[in-house]
Amino acid sequence: MSNPIVSPRPATVVRAAVRDRADPCTMVILGALGDLSSRKLLPAIYQLMKEHLVNEDFLVLGVGRDDAQTDDDFRAHMRQALNESDEIHGIDDELWEELCKRLHFVSADLTSADDYQKIAACLELIERKRAPEHRNRLFYLAVPPSIFEPIVRNLSKSGLAPRTRVADERPWTRVVIEKPFGRSLEDAQRLNDLVLGLFAEHQTYRIDHYLGKETVQNVLVLRFANSIFEPIWNRQWIHHVQITAAEEVGVGERGKYYEEAGVVRDMFQNHLLQLLSLTAMEPPAQMSANSVRDEKVKVLKSIRWLTPETIPDNAVRAQYTAGTIDGEHVPGYHEEKDVSPDSLVPTFAAVRLFVDNWRWNGVPFYLRSGKRMAKRESEIAVQFRSPPHMMFGQQTRESLRANTLVMRVQPNEGVALDFEVKVPGAAVALTSNIEIAPVDMEFDYAQAFGEVSAPAYETLLLDVMIGEATLFTRSDEVEAAWRVVDPLIQYWESNKPRRMPTYAAGSWGPREADELIEEDGVEWRDG
Ligand code: BG6
Repeated sequence: MSNPIVSPRPATVVRAAVRDRADPCTMVILGALGDLSSRKLLPAIYQLMKEHLVNEDFLVLGVGRDDAQTDDDFRAHMRQALNESDEIHGIDDELWEELCKRLHFVSADLTSADDYQKIAACLELIERKRAPEHRNRLFYLAVPPSIFEPIVRNLSKSGLAPRTRVADERPWTRVVIEKPFGRSLEDAQRLNDLVLGLFAEHQTYRIDHYLGKETVQNVLVLRFANSIFEPIWNRQWIHHVQITAAEEVGVGERGKYYEEAGVVRDMFQNHLLQLLSLTAMEPPAQMSANSVRDEKVKVLKSIRWLTPETIPDNAVRAQYTAGTIDGEHVPGYHEEKDVSPDSLVPTFAAVRLFVDNWRWNGVPFYLRSGKRMAKRESEIAVQFRSPPHMMFGQQTRESLRANTLVMRVQPNEGVALDFEVKVPGAAVALTSNIEIAPVDMEFDYAQAFGEVSAPAYETLLLDVMIGEATLFTRSDEVEAAWRVVDPLIQYWESNKPRRMPTYAAGSWGPREADELIEEDGVEWRDG
């Protein structure tokens, strides 16, 4: 896998094809002055413009609560967001001028039904040159979950987002909903009922930004566009799977949100279970939104339920204490802003899950995620079984590692396969005791393709514009994922730990997480 031969990519052809599919549309950002809009959406829009992936008649209407804000202020706000973005390296002045012309702003209180007339009037004005059948609208809810319900009701009631019967009806209206989608199974069901009472499923795009990441999509390609992996992708050849989403960052400014959420709602219900379902799903009949999502739902439904009896032996929670990351002292969770000093909200969890179906019977899936861990690293590691018979010397046998296929989600997106080789040299070539060492075959996206992969939001926004829903979570999928984590959240919230396990910031998690996996004779892959 090292030095892959990459034939010249027909990138321009691919891009032109995508652009041709992007209809004229107005992206209405509800909550345009917020953090998500500045950090993710505005940089993604700039990149899409830069790559000529949006339609020539693409407009943005920012909606926020600031009566003093004008179009020009919003443009300045956007410029600042681009300047501060890690994803944008140098702003092209010509492109910026072009983008500026497309940016508009209207102030509105999104919880007030009356204010939607202001939004409608503004849309009417900026879209006046567009034929009615081209007045496609993408409403992006970049708002806190607490005002999500009044907004969807108001969008519908005002007539701004009418329900459409079929996906290819024109003009289209699509509604993008950010996570968290509910805070429990019951809540998610209620929200789904509300949303699907107002809009059709084909209009609803529930975002899980992990699905926009290059390697996450590559899991499907790796598994189903190669014939060598699928025959061994089952309980006969795979010993276990480790899925890790480790973060270096702490809760930062989001203490208030995090105190309500905790790591299971924040990372497991969505990102980690998405990684699990892509790894474990059956091959879909085709690469279409419903085929892929049908298979993911089946996997989620096959995950063995956690119960109050099984949780203590299969799940560990913990909180970070002060420590050192990259040579810098960082505070513990209890010292973070807006966090209660006696909070029991977990910032780390490790869970052993089983997928009870024919393919995966008896194969443990170990999932872990935490804030303030040793380094930022998300990956899926598939560990194969050890050879059934060991013909090498005792010492060698003990040092042998089983083969592992690692799909690195971030950073350094890529794929690695490690395997054992003979250490060269006659001195160590005694037939009874050959010296063996592990080596890695590495595929690195940036090296192979000479470019950094597109940030997740860019991919996902483009998909909404072209009506491609494969990378978005369907209503039954969201509920199936909640069904997996709900018992764990409920159990932990109603059973206070006698002593909350802790881990020092900058470490790989608590000792209890090591013990959980070591019981099975396995170790976490660290670093
Ligand atoms: C978000 C969580 O969904 O994902 C954050 O709310 C987390 O708490 C983030 O930091 C991680 O995403 P990424 O892309 O930075 O790995």
